[in-house]
Amino acid sequence: MRLLVTGGMGFIGSNFIRYVLENHKDWEVINLDKLGYGSNPANLKDIEGDERYTFVKGDIADFKVVSKLIKEVDAVVNFAAESHVDRSISNPYAFIESNVLGVYTILEAIRKFNLEVRLVHVSTDEVYGDILEGSFTENDRLMPSSPYSATKAASDMLVLEWTRTYGLNASITRCTNNYGPYQFPEKLIPKTIIRASMGLKIPIYDTGQNVRDWLYVEDHVRAIEAVLLKGEAREIYNISAGEEKTNLEVVKTILRIMEKDENLIEFVEDRPGHDLRSSLDSWKITRDLKRRPKYSFEEGIKKTVEWYLKNEWWWKPLVNEKVLHPTP
Ligand SMILES: NC(=O)c1ccc[n+]([C@@H]2O[C@H](COP(=O)([O-])OP(=O)(O)OC[C@H]3O[C@@H](n4cnc5c(N)ncnc54)[C@H](O)[C@@H]3O)[C@@H](O)[C@H]2O)c1
Repeated sequence: MRLLVTGGMGFIGSNFIRYVLENHKDWEVINLDKLGYGSNPANLKDIEGDERYTFVKGDIADFKVVSKLIKEVDAVVNFAAESHVDRSISNPYAFIESNVLGVYTILEAIRKFNLEVRLVHVSTDEVYGDILEGSFTENDRLMPSSPYSATKAASDMLVLEWTRTYGLNASITRCTNNYGPYQFPEKLIPKTIIRASMGLKIPIYDTGQNVRDWLYVEDHVRAIEAVLLKGEAREIYNISAGEEKTNLEVVKTILRIMEKDENLIEFVEDRPGHDLRSSLDSWKITRDLKRRPKYSFEEGIKKTVEWYLKNEWWWKPLVNEKVLHPTP
């Protein structure tokens, strides 16, 4: 298998590349990443010398670059996206460029140059919006609540459409909030671990009652592998671990594991349009592809805390005012 992974210098993409190179000795990976916000070449420092791995610096919205690579591969897993919700509120256009025009470019390159290619498009549970009771299934309507999730919903529609009219062999995955090694320090879990290790206050939006369904990144990566190998064209697969926690519970769990005082917690003004609760029904992937998560939240968060405490070399250079500034 020759695989094109886009956005592989980011959090989930780098975990995916490391996992496939370790678990599929006959696979080759090309990583196309523009080295934009959220990327970090240090994420894949350990595999730089692997002859099955090639890095290409480029943009998924660049038709020339994408077309050339599409001709060389058997499959594409698209992680590339502007992914930070708060930044989408202050600068939505960058999200249209990468998340909509970028995905359109990949689809067009496949349509024109290599219809045999298998595509897995990595999307998000945020396309469904929030839900106060129950859990979203793949058939639920889309109701995004940020410019980020609106652009992801738009890209999902493009992918579905290109499977129908042009016969692309593409599937979509929608996962809940990921956590684990190599996550950019601005996000809730790494930020909490880093700030707690420095003895700094831990900011939480509003009263900390927003609920997220947390997925350990290795479980996400294994689910994407299953969709790539066994998923059906034109199908959407929700991916979650069913580990719903309020933000306050998440932060308290981390402080407990790190043996830090809860007095570090500080509540701050909420962000506009903040989803109250996210929850996914991921029965379909369990039933059809026999893939379920290995890690409970307690196990995953312990591994994550251990990783950040052992790998200061990785996060120290990334600790800027965004991490040190007291907003979540
Ligand atoms: N992190 C989560 O909890 C989560 C949850 C649901 C879905 N997702 C989705 O998973 C994917 C990966 O998320 P992540 O957390 O690893 O994000 P990330 O921000 O850590 O990484 C994104 C990577 O994509 C690259 N990129 C962005 N625009 C690009 C472009 N136009 N061309 C080439 N490269 C580009 C960036 O340079 C970066 O390396 C995204 O599509 C995101 O929507 C993430």
